[in-house]
Amino acid sequence: MNLEEDFPFLNRGIVYLDNAATTQKPNQVIEAISNFYRYHNANIHRGVHTLSIEATEMYEKSRERVASFIGAKSKELIFTYGTTSSINFLSQSLIKSEVLKEGSIVLLTAVEHHSNLLPWQNLKRYGVSLKFVDSDENGVLDEDKIINSMENVSLISLTGLSNVTGQRIDLEKVVKEAKKRGILVHIDGAQMVPHVKVDVSKLDIDFLSFSAHKMLGPTGIGALYINEKYLDAFEPFLVGGGMIDRVTLESSTFTNPPEKFEAGTPNIAGAIGFAAAVDYLNSFGMENVEKIDRELTKYALEELKKLDFVDIYGPKDERQVSIVSFNVKGVHPHDVASILDEEYKVAIRTGHHCAQPLMRKLGVSATCRASFYLYNKKEDVDRLVEGLKRVKKWIG
Ligand SMILES: Cc1ncc(COP(=O)(O)O)c(C=O)c1O
Repeated sequence: MNLEEDFPFLNRGIVYLDNAATTQKPNQVIEAISNFYRYHNANIHRGVHTLSIEATEMYEKSRERVASFIGAKSKELIFTYGTTSSINFLSQSLIKSEVLKEGSIVLLTAVEHHSNLLPWQNLKRYGVSLKFVDSDENGVLDEDKIINSMENVSLISLTGLSNVTGQRIDLEKVVKEAKKRGILVHIDGAQMVPHVKVDVSKLDIDFLSFSAHKMLGPTGIGALYINEKYLDAFEPFLVGGGMIDRVTLESSTFTNPPEKFEAGTPNIAGAIGFAAAVDYLNSFGMENVEKIDRELTKYALEELKKLDFVDIYGPKDERQVSIVSFNVKGVHPHDVASILDEEYKVAIRTGHHCAQPLMRKLGVSATCRASFYLYNKKEDVDRLVEGLKRVKKWIG
């Protein structure tokens, strides 16, 4: 495995620290996608010709590999368009299946990404109410506070790793308590699954959402894990071609899971690219990914703490994985990012990171965010710090 060969973008000299938004793609993923389109392209499931059989096999093998990456059974993994689509799908299916109904309470936290907030706000029209666990003024969540808020709750939907502070939540502790109380658990794994080894069978959660593009895969594809005990009872949110058993003009019956949940032609090449991405991560070793992410985060925190003109948000300790949010006192984050980009070729993200309620808690409208992945090095952090010192000079 040779990172420089696998990731041609590294030769452009750009220090890419925007991995929480989306990661770069290795040649192995790009090749898997173009190989499908070049030699095996056909629609799946419905054809009896060779190409269609090949495409179906490639798609279903991809499902197996992505499912096994999170310790799930193949039928428990539904391909979606990404985390946002997974959470919309889940929340609407819970209503359609009457698992959530008038009077149900969903517990969320105040640090959630908008994609793990708005789909639940949508359920208010059905009489579902939302309850929130607040963070401290640094955006840090306290697991005990989550546990103490569980009374009368039907479902908890919680990020596994905050996209703003990088805080890795102690899920084992929270899930254990939720299960004792018979509460369903959905984890927004958009940032967690790419960076730490997740095994849903050990974690004992009910639902998990994640996106391929944040873990070396293509955009436009993600997954929703649904524990097998709900598969039969669950009503699909999307209906149409490809998921039926028998259709009359007035009514229809559905086929078995997981196809039951995948109406229409799916992103076949995307699924194949997704599987190539998890193959890459498996060969690299998720323990090595986490080690690199943790080391770089620790180093970045150490170096940023030395800069008295920088405010850092989040726990600022070992709970933080792969993401560091900060601001340069008196400078708008967009100006910081522009100087870093133009003069140092360092790419960071700035803005509210789809977490406006958390920004209000932090008392800012936006932050700078540096986020790491397996191809980043300590020198990348050094270049970021060098650039920030230049920003400081610029403001005088
Ligand atoms: C924690 C978290 N949840 C959900 C999402 C939404 O993911 P996607 O845009 O891939 O649907 C993101 C994306 O940044 C995220 O960081």
